[in-house]
Amino acid sequence: MAKIKKGFILSLSVASALMLAAGCSNSTSGSGGGSGEPTVGATIYKYDDNFMSYVRRAMETSAKGKAKLLLNDSQNDQAKQMEQIDTVIAKGAKSLAINLVDPKAASTVIDKAKPKNLPVIFFNKEPDASVMKSYDKAYYVGTTSSEAGVIQGKMIAKLWNANKDKWDKNKDGKIQYVLLKGEPGHPDAEARTKFVVDTLKEQGVDVEELAMDTAMWDATKATEKMDAWLAKYSDKIEFVIANNDGMALGAISSLEKAGYFSGDKVMPVVGVDAIPEALEMIEKGKMVGTILNDAKNQGAATVQLAANAANGKEVTDGTDWKLDDMHSVRVPYVEVTKDNIQVGKDAYK
Ligand code: GAL
Ligand code: CA
Repeated sequence: MAKIKKGFILSLSVASALMLAAGCSNSTSGSGGGSGEPTVGATIYKYDDNFMSYVRRAMETSAKGKAKLLLNDSQNDQAKQMEQIDTVIAKGAKSLAINLVDPKAASTVIDKAKPKNLPVIFFNKEPDASVMKSYDKAYYVGTTSSEAGVIQGKMIAKLWNANKDKWDKNKDGKIQYVLLKGEPGHPDAEARTKFVVDTLKEQGVDVEELAMDTAMWDATKATEKMDAWLAKYSDKIEFVIANNDGMALGAISSLEKAGYFSGDKVMPVVGVDAIPEALEMIEKGKMVGTILNDAKNQGAATVQLAANAANGKEVTDGTDWKLDDMHSVRVPYVEVTKDNIQVGKDAYK
């Protein structure tokens, strides 16, 4: 009996190991793909990213009737992504839609695509300008990274000036803030961090940085950071600025544990993305604002450009998108507070 059981458990673990292995080497999921539709090979840097999960959904929706999308979860592993690219090329992809793991890996992707004359639509993680210029069939779909920081800075200045009475806890006229940064080296993280602070200063708001560190866009990591900062600075902190909503939500969990958002313990928190979970926090009064990062339109534009490219057409054919001089489509950011929350809700519907 014991023997049989052991054998059973063993074979189960062998089976699950095999399944895991299969899952690793072949995590591609196909969608779309009526006859005559071109194959587009696509990667998302990791499915386990709040904002990218909405971009992915938008891509799957817009692929219907347009392209057979071979979509891959790169699981935050650039080497794995390179293998996935080889695989989709072998499967006959006529264009690539690539959300890099490492923004610096764009040139390696181009090295694979160029000899085969395959168009590449990078999205969400913007490659360096010099790399974009090195291949006439390289395109980018995303945003102007700095814009989110500028809008966030203006929004904070406006809110601060209106609420100074209750938010300036030590009454020194300055904002003592902590800043949760996205992935270091990511153009969005770098630009949002720089421009939010520069803009606050330009708006005439005095600021003092108590702490700044990366939480890699991630809610759980942000909760840990915020726990540590609260332990160190407690009520000296007057503002939480996050590079994205995922980290803002993580900070809120920490603040809730410490008794904030009830009685007179206030803490203004801002993020970027306007994902539905953040809009809910704005409605509950636990976040004061965010910046819409339009997942739906970025996902749609990525697929539209990739499908056109695969069909040998002008990439913006039949769309309203305009390419800038960097071969890029840049979807605008929009400020979202409780006053215009519907803007965020409509974008993520
Ligand atoms: C940003 C977004 C973040 C994260 C990141 C991934 O644009 O605001 O939440 O998804 O992209 O590259
Ligand atoms: Ca102060």
